[in-house]
Amino acid sequence: MVRFSDQGEVMTGEMWDTLWVDVNLATMVEGGASYGAIRDAAVGISAGRLIFVGPRKTLPGAPEDLARTVRQAQGRWMTPGLIDCHTHLVYGGNRAHEFEKRLAGASYEEIARAGGGILATVAATREATEAELLTPALVRLNRLLAEGVTTIEIKSGYGLDLATELKILRVARQLGKVCPVSVRTTLLGAHALPPEFVGRPDDYIDLVCREMIPAALEAGLVDAVDAFCETIGFTPEQTARVFEAAAAHHLPVKLHAEQLSDQGGAQLAARCGALSADHLEYVSSEGVEAMAGAGTVAVLLPGAFYVLNETRKPPVETFRRLGVPMAVSTDCNPGSSPVTSLLLMVNMACVLFGLTVEEALTGVTRHAARALGLSQSRGTLEVGKVADLAVWDIESPADLAYAVGANPLHEVVYARKLTADS
Ligand code: NIG
Ligand code: FE
Repeated sequence: MVRFSDQGEVMTGEMWDTLWVDVNLATMVEGGASYGAIRDAAVGISAGRLIFVGPRKTLPGAPEDLARTVRQAQGRWMTPGLIDCHTHLVYGGNRAHEFEKRLAGASYEEIARAGGGILATVAATREATEAELLTPALVRLNRLLAEGVTTIEIKSGYGLDLATELKILRVARQLGKVCPVSVRTTLLGAHALPPEFVGRPDDYIDLVCREMIPAALEAGLVDAVDAFCETIGFTPEQTARVFEAAAAHHLPVKLHAEQLSDQGGAQLAARCGALSADHLEYVSSEGVEAMAGAGTVAVLLPGAFYVLNETRKPPVETFRRLGVPMAVSTDCNPGSSPVTSLLLMVNMACVLFGLTVEEALTGVTRHAARALGLSQSRGTLEVGKVADLAVWDIESPADLAYAVGANPLHEVVYARKLTADS
């Protein structure tokens, strides 16, 4: 086993496992060159961690003397493995018929209030066995992985009862066992009011706080807690109760905020130290200021904006001016964003929301890691971080946003596979 010094460097005398040369890096490290680019670089890996990242000419020796395996990237570009930081990947059924209804003029809220929307998926998810949930989720996951995703967040929220919420979280964790991707799970018990609690939303919030959060934690199935603060979801007061329960169990929080209207969710998220507030089309300038002050990540979800044919955009210029970090994600779900391409979201974040390509790529790497509380270990190519890497057949990083529907992925390195093999 390789040993590291206090500075995170390999102790002398140990061979690295792998050394990549003839590679261009988009390290996505903040400051310095655009994309944190290093041309004609080298990347050393040991025990699933990055042990060297820098210009090839600064290598401390000849490649074959440094590493057991030397890989030639032949001038390709390497980025950190992509991170999809907001998905509802595990669900039963599908809602293509609602898509047709919306095309015929029905709104997302109308469909939800008529018992469709999230509740339609809840019914299908409650009925499904774990195997019946796993199989289609795996198909969706593989589409994401085919584009270089190495870390994914998966929310529950289509169970809305204890047993089904835990079932979804178990399936999500199972996906991380059958695939080399790293899975982070988020309990979204407060996603919608289940039919058996109609007229009693506070009783349902009691269930989320007193039973779901402790049980999910006890079962070792949860990394964070989320809620849907919206007219068709929960009030800021109810959301605050969920956040207090999460805090009491030392779980970080995130929030679906200001997707369809301004509820002051962003301020609440900021006040509670949330990792992120997500959607944010209707966020006010007070909300953005609060997020800036608290360091809350704004997770932008252009797939939901596009599929729902929304016109109000998140205030990207204000996020930029106040230094709010912007992440970008698929929001993969059966209603508002049946999307399994993170690269398409990078393109849409640029075209629809006005992000620069560098901002959009930062949104699926460094800032996505931050939205999951994983900044220490993921999101950039830096010594000491996990060796989750994507190698691309592109001429410049901008190609990743520019070529719609193209998939220039050449190869993925999963740190988990490296450590399992060694
Ligand atoms: O992030 N906004 C709430 N939740 C999901 C949509 C879920 C659904 O329609 O099934 C979202 O867009
Ligand atoms: Fe969502």
